[in-house]
Amino acid sequence: MDNKNVIRAALLGAGTVGSGVYALSGMLADEMVQKTGGSLEIKKVLVRDISKKRDGIPAEVLTDNWKEILEDEEIQLVIEVMGGIEPAKTYITEAILAGKQVVSANKDLLADYGQELLRLAEDHGVDLQFEAAVAGAIPIIRPLKQSMSASMLTEIMGIVNGTTNYILTKMTEEGMGYKEALKKATELGYAEADPTSDVEGYDAGRKMAILASLAYNSEVVFSDVYTEGITNLTAEDVYYASEFDYVIKLIGMARIDDGKLEVKVHPLLIPNHHPLASVRDSFNAVFVHGEASDDAMFMGRGAGKMPTASAVMGDAITVLRNILHDNCGWNGGIAYKKLPIKPIGETKSRFFLRLLVSEKPGSLANIASVLGNNDVSIDQVVSKHTVKGASELVIITGSVLEQDFNNAMAILKGTSVVKEVCGVIRVYCES
Ligand code: NAP
Ligand code: HSE
Repeated sequence: MDNKNVIRAALLGAGTVGSGVYALSGMLADEMVQKTGGSLEIKKVLVRDISKKRDGIPAEVLTDNWKEILEDEEIQLVIEVMGGIEPAKTYITEAILAGKQVVSANKDLLADYGQELLRLAEDHGVDLQFEAAVAGAIPIIRPLKQSMSASMLTEIMGIVNGTTNYILTKMTEEGMGYKEALKKATELGYAEADPTSDVEGYDAGRKMAILASLAYNSEVVFSDVYTEGITNLTAEDVYYASEFDYVIKLIGMARIDDGKLEVKVHPLLIPNHHPLASVRDSFNAVFVHGEASDDAMFMGRGAGKMPTASAVMGDAITVLRNILHDNCGWNGGIAYKKLPIKPIGETKSRFFLRLLVSEKPGSLANIASVLGNNDVSIDQVVSKHTVKGASELVIITGSVLEQDFNNAMAILKGTSVVKEVCGVIRVYCES
């Protein structure tokens, strides 16, 4: 092959994803030639510890010196799969300034600096692709930027974290404990280096910030996203959900309402018949609704070595083709609106509320009156067994303002009627 058709790349990171990218680039070598007329040679692999043995990656390509990559004029593409904000942000910035194309899987970075980096890439006419940053192997970034750009999108809802979906699936279907399920998710390469970001909903929140920015052409950063994780869920919550024909999922939502953007992540009770209820294990799924396109759903593996590597390599092949055809620099996705963010208190939800209440006559009337006085309507009330000398009461509310619900809860917690608030989980609401 003509030497100018061999494009040299550097891989930043050789962990779960990086080792998959390196392996896949070898497996796809012939196919890349057929597809693009060129080939990709991973010339350098940046790691922290070059003495560590890396399966399938020759020691001579390893380096711990970024400058060796930056200053190598042969290297035209930088594939960043090391994660974190710094030094990844500096390296990507320097790569763009040096005219190198960039592919990244780094949602932490892109959630907060995606727009800044996209603008920089546009100014310098280079590619910045990041399909793997949201929902692993599922194509969602490019559809939002291109195929669905005429859809008039108004709502995105989905399961965008593989670790928590895996944990909730194991807890629901096998009665597995939370800690054991998290350990297995980590062994399988789904969890982040610090799994706090998975289980507290931060990882999903970052992905929702990226999706919302692209879908609504308005910059959303991680701090704009309301997040609640799965760490407060108990085996009882899982049990009660199934008793009521629901399953608990960690759901991300981003919708436009009254000209404001509502972006949030929290556990949600989903009815068993809803398509998201059957998204199990490390699978992710993203529903999008557009005024023009109506509903569309994307589903696939949201995490793990090869699924994520497939999305990274898909971007790398696009960039390879762009380099060969001198067509780099069109990224799309730059926000041109600034929609206000709706505070969580102004959004509406239904709630599943599990209380231990005094067995004295009039307790239920008392609770109903506090809820009613705060505009919280009740859809369903079920009195369960007696626990610790108090009755267990399960209430499912109508669709109510979060602020009204919180006001009602603050009053209820101060009454002698409510002995304990055992669980509060939002419930899926047909829009
Ligand atoms: P990982 O297993 O922890 O690997 C990180 C790699 O980056 C390691 O090889 C590490 O080197 C290297 N590295 C980290 N900091 C470095 C630094 N300052 N200088 C040089 N090398 C450094 O992480 P991962 O799971 O592969 O994830 C990588 C990225 O992909 C993250 O942004 C993550 O959020 C994203 N992502 C992951 C998945 C997934 O399923 N795992 C899915 C989608 C996106 P050493 O090996 O020497 O420590
Ligand atoms: N830790 C992430 C997850 C990796 O579990 O979804 C994929 O982004």
